Amino acid sequence: MPRRFLVRLPAPARRADPAGDRAARPVTGFPAWPSSADGLVELYPRNPAPTLRVNFIASADGAVTVDGLSGGLHGPGDKEIFDSLRMVCDALVVAAGTVRAENYDALRLTPAAREWRLAHGLPEFPLMVIVSGSLNLDPDQLVFSDAPIRPIVVTTTRADPSALTGVADVIVAGDDQVDCAAAVRELHARGATQLLSEGGPQLFGALLDADLVDELCLTVSPLLVGGGPGRISSGAVTDPRPMSLRHVLTLENMLFLRYTRQGT
Ligand SMILES: NC(=O)c1ccc[n+]([C@@H]2O[C@H](COP(=O)([O-])OP(=O)(O)OC[C@H]3O[C@@H](n4cnc5c(N)ncnc54)[C@H](OP(=O)(O)O)[C@@H]3O)[C@@H](O)[C@H]2O)c1
Repeated sequence: MPRRFLVRLPAPARRADPAGDRAARPVTGFPAWPSSADGLVELYPRNPAPTLRVNFIASADGAVTVDGLSGGLHGPGDKEIFDSLRMVCDALVVAAGTVRAENYDALRLTPAAREWRLAHGLPEFPLMVIVSGSLNLDPDQLVFSDAPIRPIVVTTTRADPSALTGVADVIVAGDDQVDCAAAVRELHARGATQLLSEGGPQLFGALLDADLVDELCLTVSPLLVGGGPGRISSGAVTDPRPMSLRHVLTLENMLFLRYTRQGT
């Protein structure tokens, strides 16, 4: 009878996961919906490295809006994730089109979220950053007039910032369009390295074009909307880039996906 040898294979190296402190592995099951706010933070953590995370909601057939707004896509769970992503970021970056269309309020957090930030050594509020080429923004809109800290507006050399200098700090990056890479460098220089963008589609397209997107948190709403509305990104055609799926969460019929840049 042949002798049998036991071959011991080396244990797989446990590699720190910069995108979530969990071993990098394929997604094989759905975690249960977290029972606490801390559970959500574990699934959408602050990362050790500078990160640009983008958060969108789309219908099951890919629409970014219903009747021109994202509100018609909302459902159970997405507000919790939306709020948690805001809570853990250093700066929220939103394009002027979305600020105008969605009539953005000031970036104010719940008392519990502010406490969480202070307990984790963060400023009480994240920075609010608005990207606009035209600076066609209303200084009386709550996003400015009710802001707990002065928002930042990122614009180009061609814009006249005088109407906004009373309510916001203005960063100039680029001539025709905002140079997104330069804007991100400037935010990093100000200590904001965990960046969250809530879009909209043109800004997402510009960020993809500059290869700045490290993470996409995508909520899929169980609706078929039909043609008409656009997708979550628009603008220049970019090379497809592969992403890793970090988790899948569901609540009722809503689906929550977290993708990170491959190799991170
Ligand atoms: N489903 C979702 O999760 C979601 C999320 C966000 C938005 N939305 C929807 O998206 C729609 C808004 O989309 P949108 O097409 O207006 O796109 P957008 O990206 O929200 O806004 C485009 C505007 O932002 C400014 N901008 C963006 N990138 C720029 C760059 N690189 N340089 C200079 N300016 C830049 C420009 O503002 P100026 O015109 O001031 O120059 C541009 O006109 C709304 O209907 C909103 O409801 C949906």
